[in-house]
Amino acid sequence: MSEAAIRLVDLKKTFDGNDFVLKGIDLEIPKGSLTAVIGFSGTGKSVVLKHILGLYKPTSGKVEVMGTDISTLKPDDLTKFRCNFGVLFQSAALFDDMTVLENVCFPLLEHRRELSKKQVLEIADQKLRLVGLDSKHDHKLPSQISGGMQKRTGLARALALDPEILIYDEPTTGLDPILTEMVDNLILDTHKLREGTTSVMVSHDLYAAFRIADYVAMLDAGRVLLWGTPKDFEKSDIELVRKFVDKGMKHQ
Ligand SMILES: Nc1ncnc2c1ncn2[C@@H]1O[C@H](COP(=O)(O)OP(=O)(O)OP(=O)(O)O)[C@@H](O)[C@H]1O
Ligand SMILES: [Mg+2]
Repeated sequence: MSEAAIRLVDLKKTFDGNDFVLKGIDLEIPKGSLTAVIGFSGTGKSVVLKHILGLYKPTSGKVEVMGTDISTLKPDDLTKFRCNFGVLFQSAALFDDMTVLENVCFPLLEHRRELSKKQVLEIADQKLRLVGLDSKHDHKLPSQISGGMQKRTGLARALALDPEILIYDEPTTGLDPILTEMVDNLILDTHKLREGTTSVMVSHDLYAAFRIADYVAMLDAGRVLLWGTPKDFEKSDIELVRKFVDKGMKHQ
């Protein structure tokens, strides 16, 4: 097995001290892989991502990211550590009052203060071109571009700091089928273009998960029901997995 970028060890979480949302998650995400996390609504997918990002503290168990147990990091170090992550959520969450270009410059101005203005603009320009946005949109506000372009801008911003790990939470939920396919392909192309990047995507879109992911982790009721390649999922005879796989394959 290749080196793990992310390792969750018997991760448990309760918010109210009573009801456990995560009941002991064991999961290793290999470095350089594209891993999809799937499962019914409310099974703990987003809570798992938030533990990986250090936004939630485990009730018990361990979260290791690139060999570091993140519970040992002081708040300031955790903030710096988060620069290793590029994050894209369902809504692109762009700053409405900043242009496309300014949105992508923002993390660089915050975290890479040693860079000159010219260098910041060069990096932002490079990321925007990487995700396929034409420079004629650089000075538009998010409200003046389409949903697909907003996603591209969000991805360019997520890539600005050259993160080692890209995290996507439902990046295509609510998009039409054409846009969904475009964003899925963008995630796959970005992953392939950036050698060594580890990508983790939570998705309701099973067709996409099975098409683009190297590994799939299916959560159920706060545990990992099955982890494996898309082929492992196809072959599985676990009833709940079958239901998911059969549904996912209908789109083909
Ligand atoms: N901050 C919080 N405080 C209390 N409960 C929470 C909190 N965050 C999540 N939960 C609970 O944890 C459970 C899992 O939530 P989570 O958001 O991880 O589900 P999910 O698998 O991402 O679902 P979906 O597919 O709908 O996004 C839910 O019952 C939710 O209500
Ligand atoms: Mg969620």
